[in-house]
Amino acid sequence: MYTQGLDQGDKETQASAGTPEQLAAFQERIDAEEKIEAKDWMPEAYRRTLIRQISQHAHSEVIGMQPEGNWLTRAPSLKRKAILLAKVQDEGGHGLYLYSAAETLGISRDQMVADLLSGKAKYSSIFNYPTVNWADIGAIGWLVDGAAIMNQIPLCRCSYGPYARAMVRVCKEESFHQRQGYELLLTLCRGSAEQKAMAQDALNRWWWPSLMMFGPNDSESKHSAQSMAWKIKRFSNDELRQKFVDVTVQQAEFLGISVPDPDLKLDKKTGHYTFGEIDWQEFIDVIAGNGPCNKQRLEKRQKAHSDGEWVREAAQAYASKQAARAAA
Ligand SMILES: [Fe+2]
Ligand SMILES: [Fe+2]
Repeated sequence: MYTQGLDQGDKETQASAGTPEQLAAFQERIDAEEKIEAKDWMPEAYRRTLIRQISQHAHSEVIGMQPEGNWLTRAPSLKRKAILLAKVQDEGGHGLYLYSAAETLGISRDQMVADLLSGKAKYSSIFNYPTVNWADIGAIGWLVDGAAIMNQIPLCRCSYGPYARAMVRVCKEESFHQRQGYELLLTLCRGSAEQKAMAQDALNRWWWPSLMMFGPNDSESKHSAQSMAWKIKRFSNDELRQKFVDVTVQQAEFLGISVPDPDLKLDKKTGHYTFGEIDWQEFIDVIAGNGPCNKQRLEKRQKAHSDGEWVREAAQAYASKQAARAAA
């Protein structure tokens, strides 16, 4: 099997439940804003939380290539095709950095990939929605990458060093993704009535799933408090969602299209927008595997993995040859 980086045996991490003294010293380092590195002692639960979060993040980047990859052959101009190709490749790259960051915690890439392919591991619910018109590519950049940026900018200050450092570069690229999406929609909104209607239709379908990307309400979010104390998270789900709504509603106004929420209004006292209730049942259904495209996304990933078998074998054979040559 092809594994990248260190193998399992090499990197027994320094993790255990910990004595009260160890836990206190660990928390002190976190409170002092010191970065925790791969070989430092860490509580087992911290390690597990990060493996779960970073691997889900990596899987989301990789599966997220599909809804946009669908449109590579149908981009309306060479310029749009080149932009979309670059963006989709960036997302693949994000997946790779993140798998590497997760590997520093003692899980192998093979294990993470196996968990994704078997359906055991989760990825962001948003990528289980279909891209049915070209404006969806703009809406994904503007809303999905926009929501990702809100989530990920604070992760650049995450207490775990390898994750925080990976996020710095990822965020720079996400910013380009968000802008290309917004610029695509701006072009459509300044075009014909039909093009503007496509943009409105895309906003109608992507708005609510984008709000769901921030996860359950704070009152329902089981991992949040501990992740905040460990400075893995810096803001709660609801705080980040509110920031996203406040910024994005004004961007929709500039485009001249409307957010599909009759309850949306600006609270002049607080300066924040209040908004309607999210359909949490839909969120739960999509996470559970019953969204519009879950099956299709997983099957496509499984096929890509088995179609790539010969590449992994060839890489392995080449590496063995090089090693034999070096040893001779
Ligand atoms: Fe990404
Ligand atoms: Fe992105």
